[in-house]
Amino acid sequence: MVLAGLRRLEYRGYDSAGIAVVDGGLAVERKAGPLRNLEARLDEVGRDRFEGNTGVGHTRWATHGAPTDRNAHPHTDAAGRVAVVHNGIIENFAQLRAELESAGVEMASDTDTETAAHLIARAYLGVDGGDSEGDLPASVRAVCRRLEGAFTLVVTHLDEPDMIVAARRSSPLVVGVGDGETFVASDVAAFIEHTRNAVELGQDQAVVIDRDGYRVTDFHGAEIAPKTFRVDWDLAAAEKGGHEYFMLKEIEEQPEALANTLRGHFADGRIVLDEQRLADQDLREIDKVFVVACGSAYHSGLVAKYAIEHWCRLPVEVELASEFRYRDPVLDRDTLVVAVSQSGETADTLEAVRHAREQKARVLAVCNTNGAQIPRESDAVLYTHAGPEIGVASTKAFLAQIAANYLVGLALAGARGTKYPDEVAREFHELEAMPEAVGRVLGTAGQVRELAAGLADSKAVLFLGRHVGYPVALEGALKLKELAYMHAEGFAAGELKHGPIALIEEGLPVVVVMPSSKGRATLHSKLLSNIREIQARGAQTIVIAQEGDETVRPFADHLIEVPAVSTLLQPLVSTVPLQIFAAEIAKARGYDVDKPRNLAKSVTVE
Ligand code: F6R
Repeated sequence: MVLAGLRRLEYRGYDSAGIAVVDGGLAVERKAGPLRNLEARLDEVGRDRFEGNTGVGHTRWATHGAPTDRNAHPHTDAAGRVAVVHNGIIENFAQLRAELESAGVEMASDTDTETAAHLIARAYLGVDGGDSEGDLPASVRAVCRRLEGAFTLVVTHLDEPDMIVAARRSSPLVVGVGDGETFVASDVAAFIEHTRNAVELGQDQAVVIDRDGYRVTDFHGAEIAPKTFRVDWDLAAAEKGGHEYFMLKEIEEQPEALANTLRGHFADGRIVLDEQRLADQDLREIDKVFVVACGSAYHSGLVAKYAIEHWCRLPVEVELASEFRYRDPVLDRDTLVVAVSQSGETADTLEAVRHAREQKARVLAVCNTNGAQIPRESDAVLYTHAGPEIGVASTKAFLAQIAANYLVGLALAGARGTKYPDEVAREFHELEAMPEAVGRVLGTAGQVRELAAGLADSKAVLFLGRHVGYPVALEGALKLKELAYMHAEGFAAGELKHGPIALIEEGLPVVVVMPSSKGRATLHSKLLSNIREIQARGAQTIVIAQEGDETVRPFADHLIEVPAVSTLLQPLVSTVPLQIFAAEIAKARGYDVDKPRNLAKSVTVE
């Protein structure tokens, strides 16, 4: 059961794995590398050693200490009585480690986690004073009160074979309530095959699981009424369903993910958010918007800038969440910070949200994970209902983020009025038709695959776009970098002549995202000139253009046609071929597209 849960969570981080089961003794095994290395090891030592009623497991993405066997979790105390798994970073670990070492404790790993294991073991023995002797929940709480940083801890103890204690601060933890069985995990996917009934743990809360069920408390032991919810997707959504990779399944699920994200938000010509702890008046008073996010979510924010500025005449800045709070941005009560995050737990974005709130800004979260930390700490929430995204590279969640950002723009336009009511009304309705348009783009998959197979040995690929095609170009390049480990760069096409054109050489593949030929004629003709410039220098042009755009044909060595939609909504269709392109090149180069090297799905450290 523990291994099956780990398999479903392996996408969150996968440089080592481990397991501990209590049954008469404490059986622990840890192995560097993917989960299959641990499974092979368990086969060697005999799986029957790992049968019991309580067990913990972990897949690791290294922060402190290299991904080796000895640094893999669970970590134990020297006597091997306590086993601890941990996500996050214990920031005061050096001080705690020094304290333990001066008390004669010998460390067996380079991790911050191991300090927690020793401290809990000592608290349970009562050697450092305090009143937690023989009381595992009290021992864990006492240690949590001493830890600084972000952590989820899950703890088992040899003397408490029917108990698991878990605790969290700024790192996710959710309880699954089954029939005669209870689970804790960082994501519901770990236990979805057993139960869809879940309990969300809040900041600085702990949970004790035993034969009677579960109890939630704060770090001082005061009982807290549990916040339960039912997971709105099932096991099938977390399985490959006959696809070779999750990512390929998730690319195909995009029309549905988009439809689910849009559904329920259109009411009487207005957009409704999922949660709004802000008055409409507050939205009217906003005079500036920041979108903060990381990676692909940041690219979705760049698209939002074009839409919100145009529809609402509000200045929008898009900022990498990891830079935001270190820059002293100008924020006040009339600033709206839109935090976009699939996981809702990305540490950089969470800290940006906290900084914004400290400065009294209003925060609206766009998130794909119900009850995650970022929406919990925000004033308003719009959930993307893309379903679980297992492939590490974002696809359907990215498209859903773009759609949700449009909804935010339309909600603001609705609350504040717009200079372009007819255009906004048209785009409002067009948005509802986008799932069908995205379904049609999937029809280009065969052509894109063939093209990708022919380009798999390229040294580099450049991506160019203008206006909303620029963030699409950045996203196309990011997908290729992370999946195919290939040099890829996205540029605003107009910037080319200011430097990057020097990169163009004979045969270099350059992907160009053409803007709509309807409406913005200058944009279209400028990009045509840019294609000519690169073609004249020997580049191989791959052009993504709208159906019926014949003007582009003479300049396209390869032409991929996508449905004609209004300019602002174009990223929803033009991104899809780039996702397929990156996945296919990665596959042709022999890489696992679900688990690109060095990456983790949820980046809960800064
Ligand atoms: C890229 C990718 C990442 C994430 C980024 C933010 O394919 O998946 O760049 O977009 O790590 O993650 P969330 O949206 O969970 O905050």
